[in-house]
Amino acid sequence: MDTFLIEGGKRLEGSLRVFGSKNAALPEMCAALLTNQPVTLRDVPNLADIKSLRNLLGELGCIGEHSGPAGQAIMRLHTQDESHEKSHARYEIVRTMRASISTLGPMVARRGFARVSMPGGCAIGDRPVDLHLRGLAALGAEITLDGGDITARAPKKGLKGATIFLGGQFGSTVLGTANVMCAATLAKGTTVIESAACEPEIVDLAVMLIKMGAKISGHGSPRLVIEGVDELKGVDHAVMADRIEAGTFMLAAAITNGDITLENCPIDAMLAVKAKLLAMGIHLAVTPGANNNLLRAAVRVTSARTLKPVEFTTQPHPGFPTDIQAQMMATLTLADGNSVITERIFPERFLHVAELSRMGAKLMRQGATVIVSGVKKLVGAPVMASDLRASAGLVLAGLAAEGTTIINRVYHLDRGYEKMEDRLAKLGASIRRVDDKDLPANLTGGAD
Ligand code: EPU
Repeated sequence: MDTFLIEGGKRLEGSLRVFGSKNAALPEMCAALLTNQPVTLRDVPNLADIKSLRNLLGELGCIGEHSGPAGQAIMRLHTQDESHEKSHARYEIVRTMRASISTLGPMVARRGFARVSMPGGCAIGDRPVDLHLRGLAALGAEITLDGGDITARAPKKGLKGATIFLGGQFGSTVLGTANVMCAATLAKGTTVIESAACEPEIVDLAVMLIKMGAKISGHGSPRLVIEGVDELKGVDHAVMADRIEAGTFMLAAAITNGDITLENCPIDAMLAVKAKLLAMGIHLAVTPGANNNLLRAAVRVTSARTLKPVEFTTQPHPGFPTDIQAQMMATLTLADGNSVITERIFPERFLHVAELSRMGAKLMRQGATVIVSGVKKLVGAPVMASDLRASAGLVLAGLAAEGTTIINRVYHLDRGYEKMEDRLAKLGASIRRVDDKDLPANLTGGAD
């Protein structure tokens, strides 16, 4: 199994291009099921989840090809078989990648039938899909659960627009909004989604669907209005830049007292993160991209030697994103004072707490809150990656720690960051990917 070997203490300097967003690309790939014309997506990162979804779409009759340079690869998708036999997303693929659930709405809207294995829980929590199903049922789909599969059937005359409240216990749902919005584009009449997710990835998906001929307004606000159309056409769409990757690299600059310029940075989609970084004493100099575009800006990140502590709570967009919580925690372990972190989206998303503690971090968890008492230094140690963002937090800690950090199971990290070690190494980090078989036994991970 691959591991990262990091010698901490190197200051990161240089520039880096932010790659396309995984979480925008995944539902956008599923939207290719809404048309039998070719769909081209640009800037699709080369990640394990993207590959799994391409394979799944292939099984669903939508043939894909992904090629091109790192971070700027092009995904070409073309739905050629829309039969019910080709409308089953099997457990074997769904269990490796939860975003497979995003095939449900497009298939039931276009084909009148979809069968998708029910995703299970994962390292960050239970992750139910009740809101997805409630939304599709409100459009008239008949939903049944059989043998672990969700089956959705549209009435003979197709789905019908409706007013749907999509709020849940923890706020809105990102992929649930994507599913219902996609389905509503082909439903008869008007759909109103209240408490829709406002995440930039949903806005990017709406922009793509509008280019395909969908009639959508209100994207970026909690009230989405969709007028159904008979058909959608093919599209050529550039996926937005990854705000979570950008935030992770900003914190890599901060934790190493570095000086990094991020090109293609979606700073306008990161205002909550920006506000906290400024409060920590991190400097951000923003130069808008072409045509004053703040979703493709250049941002120079420099950091004060001493970071200030902050308090934050993860929330749906435009609040602070849960996907940057672990990386912030890692960085705040070295701040001068006490920080308070509360997780409101996935209250169990704290697997990194125990691993950071192994590196000398002083953390006290109570329920969904962690108090971070800043320490003078972290010390390298063998640690275990658990979920994608927790792993990114451990990498940041390793970059700043004294001595060697070994991060086991980096396949978690590979699900969301393309060539992370190469890109950090280009900025001056001492980081290598090695096979754990080549490490001494005392440095590899423990039990499952
Ligand atoms: N929820 C429900 N019922 C549902 C759906 C969600 O109760 O039917 C709850 C969840 O349990 C959670 C909250 O609502 O407490 C928000 O979950 P959401 O549905 O918004 O999450 P998601 O759409 O499954 C996406 C990202 C996650 C990111 C979350 C929150 C993708 C592929 N995944 O998941 O990204 O953390 O939104 O912003 O877009 C990651 O990239 O590391 C990652 C986990």
